[in-house]
Amino acid sequence: MTDLETTYLGLRLRSPLIASASPLTGRLDSLLALEQAGAAAVVLPSLFEEEVEDESMRLHERLELGADSFPEAGDFFPPMEYAGMGPYKHVKLAAAAKDLLKIPVIASINGITPGGWVQYAQLMVDAGADAIEVNLYSVAANPWRSGAAVESGYLEVVRLVRGAVDVPLAVKLSPFLSATAHFARRVVEAGADGLVLFNRFYQPDIDLDTLDVLPKVELSDPRELRLPLRWLAILRPQLPQTSLAATTGVHSGRDAAKALLVGADVVMMTSALLRHGPAHLARVEAELVAWLVERDYASVGQLRGSVSHLAAADPTGFERANYLRTLASYRVTPIL
Ligand SMILES: Cc1cc2nc3c(=O)[nH]c(=O)nc-3n(C[C@H](O)[C@H](O)[C@H](O)COP(=O)(O)O)c2cc1C
Repeated sequence: MTDLETTYLGLRLRSPLIASASPLTGRLDSLLALEQAGAAAVVLPSLFEEEVEDESMRLHERLELGADSFPEAGDFFPPMEYAGMGPYKHVKLAAAAKDLLKIPVIASINGITPGGWVQYAQLMVDAGADAIEVNLYSVAANPWRSGAAVESGYLEVVRLVRGAVDVPLAVKLSPFLSATAHFARRVVEAGADGLVLFNRFYQPDIDLDTLDVLPKVELSDPRELRLPLRWLAILRPQLPQTSLAATTGVHSGRDAAKALLVGADVVMMTSALLRHGPAHLARVEAELVAWLVERDYASVGQLRGSVSHLAAADPTGFERANYLRTLASYRVTPIL
């Protein structure tokens, strides 16, 4: 029997396969299907800072309206079911998921400015979430704001959430940082127990007929795994006590094996599960087990990190030195 067990954020998991935040983890029926297909944990869809702001704005407007019109009329104030909309649906989902599932439930929160939304992390923990994942997503488009200022804002958010919850905390990072290893270390110092590499940015497209900017969600491709692979390999030896999760481009058991080899504790999947359905998770697990058996690995622990930056036969493969060699390796076929 191959031992797939792993530890992520201090949580003991039956395997390294986690369903990352997506519409599939936002519904109880698909959450159950993911657990039945073997998901070792699930990450719920993120509560966005903007959802909390919208909610408090609406609540404020209604309270103002009520106060101005009939201050003495208690029934004019927002009814309790108002609290069933907006951010509270995330809290309710965390509670319902926890009730339904046996596997750990990780609640996700997405924000970049310190604010009242942070308290929702605590509410989701109160609702039963086993851990919190903070997704730091911003487009640094302000020419007057330096990388250092953007990063220190992110760190402030990590510290705030760390202070608000007493469960393990993971931080989902952007790949667009000038000094990824330095920032990763600072996120850990700010209180993160784990890093999720990487957030996938969605690039808008332009409609040439209407000239509209089109939001475009395209599912990932396994080739995109190479970006997290490099950084997992580099960070694994630098952050030996930190949990590392691979996200983006894990579609198969072989992809999962690659991420584990460079040092991931777990791999997360969204695109492959959206494309093929929750049952795909069982196929990924079977493929991972077959790969391990074929190479006589008795456990996931045995292979984890064996091709990380320090352990690889040729560590320069992860560095600049590899750039020139890679370019030189391209064979041009003359088109005449
Ligand atoms: C439709 C959709 C919704 C997503 N929603 C969230 C979200 O709420 N929070 C989050 O952190 N990531 C979200 N993601 C990103 C995924 O969790 C994942 O990190 C990303 O898709 C890369 O992994 P993949 O290659 O397995 O798809 C979403 C992705 C998709 C496609």
